[in-house]
Amino acid sequence: MHQQSNGYQLEIKNLSMRFGGIVALDNVSLGIKKGEIFSIIGPNGAGKTTIYNCISRVYTPQRGEITFEGHNILKLHAHQVAGLGIARTFQNVELFKNMTVLDNLMLGRHHIINCGAIAGGIYLGKAQRLEIEHRKRAEWIIDFLEMEAVRKQVVRNLPFGTQKRVELGRALAMDPKIILLDEPVSGMNLEETEDIARFILDINEELGITCIIVEHDMGVVMDISHRVAAIDFGEKIAEGTASEIQKDTEVIKAYLGSEDLVVGRRVEED
Ligand SMILES: Nc1ncnc2c1ncn2[C@@H]1O[C@H](COP(=O)(O)OP(=O)(O)O)[C@@H](O)[C@H]1O
Ligand SMILES: [Mg+2]
Repeated sequence: MHQQSNGYQLEIKNLSMRFGGIVALDNVSLGIKKGEIFSIIGPNGAGKTTIYNCISRVYTPQRGEITFEGHNILKLHAHQVAGLGIARTFQNVELFKNMTVLDNLMLGRHHIINCGAIAGGIYLGKAQRLEIEHRKRAEWIIDFLEMEAVRKQVVRNLPFGTQKRVELGRALAMDPKIILLDEPVSGMNLEETEDIARFILDINEELGITCIIVEHDMGVVMDISHRVAAIDFGEKIAEGTASEIQKDTEVIKAYLGSEDLVVGRRVEED
């Protein structure tokens, strides 16, 4: 384990990102511990997705540091970040819509499969064994996320809620150490939302994967998060446990007039 001395698996320090005159992130610092479910909340346009885009190296921030298990992320390319074990899902599902659920999951294993390609060229038998292993892992994930009924279906034909579940599966197929989830339950009905919340808990507890969640559904956030950070206009305005965040005056101010902070379900008490 390359646990950093400060105890954080992923550390963001003084991150600032501008797009022309728009300040999307202003000096944001966050530390996420291994094994945590850490949520980032904030109104639309606050800068949440921009944080993900900096971590996964879609964007290069003007200032700041991002360190994952001792690696300086900002020195790496997007595929190298994925190779470290950082997977993500997107606000608007990004899958190969004309391919089946199973094939999308197999593609999620792409960077792992590539590692065996050289050996595969020399030893055909080994390549075949690897292919079988990858398929087994993809099928295991399909079972884990209860998607057996749709495994051979083309993604395009599935309801949005199921497509989001497939995307979660594709991220899991990368055998990640940490998953960044961008609005995992947006557009879902109550039943689909509860299913996904339960899967996130299982992913965290059974598979030991650290989870970062950007989400507007405060019921889900307050139910499953160990810690929460609130962002407003690109700045971190609060950080703490779910119950601390709900009482925070800065957070309440940022959400004034919005119903997002009304929590309908179990609230963590600690
Ligand atoms: N590629 C981009 N080009 C220009 N502006 C951007 C880009 N990405 C994000 N922004 C701007 O940065 C701010 C934060 O956006 P975003 O991180 O998507 O917010 P959130 O995910 O919290 O809703 C917004 O004002 C948005 O318009
Ligand atoms: Mg967003």
